[in-house]
Amino acid sequence: MSAHPRIVVSPPGPQAAEFLKKDEKFISPSYRRYYPLVVESAKDCIVKDVDGNEYVDLNSGVACMNVGHNHPRVVSAIRAQCDRFLHYSNTDFYYREVINLAEKLAQIAPGDFEKKVYFGNSGTEAVEAAIKLARWHTRKQLFIGFIGAFQGRTMGALSFTASKPVQRRYFSPLVPGVTHVPYAYCYRCAFKLTYPECHYWCVDYIDEFVLQKYMPPEDVAAMVFEPIQGEGGYVVPPPEYFQRLKKLADKYGLLLIDDEVQSGIGRTGKWFAIEHWNVEPDIICASKALASGLPIGATIAKAKVMDWTGGSHASTFGGNPVSCAAADAVLEIIKEEELLENANKQGTHALKRLEELKERSELVGDIRGKGLMIGVELVEDKESRKPAVQKAAEVILRSWKRGVAVITCGASTLRIAPPLTIQRELLDEALDIVEDAIVEVEKEI
Ligand SMILES: Cc1ncc(COP(=O)(O)O)c(C=O)c1O
Repeated sequence: MSAHPRIVVSPPGPQAAEFLKKDEKFISPSYRRYYPLVVESAKDCIVKDVDGNEYVDLNSGVACMNVGHNHPRVVSAIRAQCDRFLHYSNTDFYYREVINLAEKLAQIAPGDFEKKVYFGNSGTEAVEAAIKLARWHTRKQLFIGFIGAFQGRTMGALSFTASKPVQRRYFSPLVPGVTHVPYAYCYRCAFKLTYPECHYWCVDYIDEFVLQKYMPPEDVAAMVFEPIQGEGGYVVPPPEYFQRLKKLADKYGLLLIDDEVQSGIGRTGKWFAIEHWNVEPDIICASKALASGLPIGATIAKAKVMDWTGGSHASTFGGNPVSCAAADAVLEIIKEEELLENANKQGTHALKRLEELKERSELVGDIRGKGLMIGVELVEDKESRKPAVQKAAEVILRSWKRGVAVITCGASTLRIAPPLTIQRELLDEALDIVEDAIVEVEKEI
């Protein structure tokens, strides 16, 4: 596969069209697709479709392929594990792959304290485990969640998810006891304040208007947050935000549950995004990029918090040995190929380019990000900041047709999240295409 986008037939081509017809007939309509990309194969930063078109993957298979698609070391670790054994339930027996991976995760997760790890199969399961653990450990029932959050789609995690009504419509009643408060989305402050003159009112508000008014702090188990909201729009809080949240949590003895399903495993140039704020959470949830596309979820907790007893929580396939072998390879690759450093280097370059675009384009309202987790928020005009929903959809469609697989999040934010292996030349080629699409859409629509 070449290292450049290559369009040989206008997508979706004839082969793709056949699959799309069948998909419509047999696949659940609950999925929401951005555009009809039908994947045939993928390698590092390039995805090939069934008609032979090659795209630069600026979304990493939705933030899963941090070490690039089909990294040879991941593939050979998977093959070697397949030759040994595929499954022997960690719920009831032992095997070394899961134990060794837990040790490595405990080492890289922030906090110089003992940690233990629970394994599930997905992001939502990592969150389910975290909230069940918080209730078990504290014997308290209530939680604070954040508007704009995406914690997953199973009933417990969904009770925290609050980024789009469609995710919850007709699914109530959800798990009771979750109160949502505004997140530090400074570009669209819920209180219409401006940073830094706001003095972090969004944190004081939780104390003065939630905990002191109607949510007895002694009944609250934890706050559940993403350090950078993912589906909510790649929203990056200001520098002291999490320190202040931690202070509030400490004041009342609440646990901090850090959902790093999207932002973790090196995406932001640190193993976990919360390290940018120098905060050590009680529980961290990881998934997506951990096993480079194989299903896995990890709930990493302070050992003294993970004190539930045998039988209280488990999952047949959780910590599957093949997924663990892939995850072990991923962690080694990130270290040895210095991908945290590359994420920072390429991310700094991308942010600078996009900031320059913001100066030139009325459509680009806000640029934000850390490492290679970058949001480009499109607005109808800089004055009103009205989300340019249709224009964002058009930008990603045009980009795709020219060879870049980029997607949106929030109402109208482009997410720039290529594999951490991406190099400057390819990143620039992909950004050229996205920027051209933005400029064109701004002129034409
Ligand atoms: C921050 C966050 N938490 C949880 C989830 C849910 O993960 P999964 O789709 O693997 O259940 C996602 C998925 O996008 C996510 O971004």
